[in-house]
Amino acid sequence: MRRAGAAAAEVLMIAGRHVAPGITTDAIDAIVHAEVLERGAYPSPLGYRNFPKSVCTSVNEVICHGIPDSRPLAAGDIVNIDVTVYLDGVHGDTSAMFGVGEVDDESRRLVRGTLRALEAAIEAVAPGVPVSAIGKAIEGVARPGRLGVVREFVGHGVGPDFHGNLQIPHYHDPRNSTPLAEGMTFTIEPMLTLGSPQVELWNDGWTAVTADRSRSAQFEHTLVVNSGGAEILTVASDGRCAHELSVASAPGAHTG
Ligand code: MF3
Ligand code: CO
Ligand code: CO
Repeated sequence: MRRAGAAAAEVLMIAGRHVAPGITTDAIDAIVHAEVLERGAYPSPLGYRNFPKSVCTSVNEVICHGIPDSRPLAAGDIVNIDVTVYLDGVHGDTSAMFGVGEVDDESRRLVRGTLRALEAAIEAVAPGVPVSAIGKAIEGVARPGRLGVVREFVGHGVGPDFHGNLQIPHYHDPRNSTPLAEGMTFTIEPMLTLGSPQVELWNDGWTAVTADRSRSAQFEHTLVVNSGGAEILTVASDGRCAHELSVASAPGAHTG
């Protein structure tokens, strides 16, 4: 799981460095595909329930599961790149936001808030803690930040299966008292919105957009519960990941 996580994190960092006005999400898909194979891994999305590409690219009002296409990214766009790799029998799943050129203040606020929500959720993880603590931590950031929390898509168990049985809601469901236990591997991947978190699905069967077309952001890590808390698995061998790149680059580079 550490090796699969590191490979996913490395590929996501490389993909993120290519984000710039004019590049198409198809070109990002080609980069991800090649970099995944380079590492002796398989791009998990490709052919998964008939998903046609090797990565998900979700632009602006797209919440998740955007399919790479021929539209060039434009200055002001925000894009989530979601990389999953299958290496030596297990999956590593991670995503981050990238700003394209100059991004408006509200988008930067959204992106930063979503990353803070993921970080708060990871902080809440420990053996014996109920699954509901994760959504509670996310809402603790989203509510005061006036950001919507998408309910239709959840974090998930990950390992030999891309999507295991364990579900990790990003909203607070106090009835979910399932305790986290050492050795569990799962993702946390909150999707937060500037407006309503209501979801609509395109007729391609994949692309999920906000019903009000407000912008949405998402960050994702794969982690394992250890004795002290969470160990993040989707970091490169030097401990770095695209999330730092994401905040250091366009979203937020210009204001504090
Ligand atoms: N990577 C996504 C997740 O975080 C799942 C994408 S499924 C796909 O769970 F088929 F669209 F790739
Ligand atoms: Co996932
Ligand atoms: Co993912």
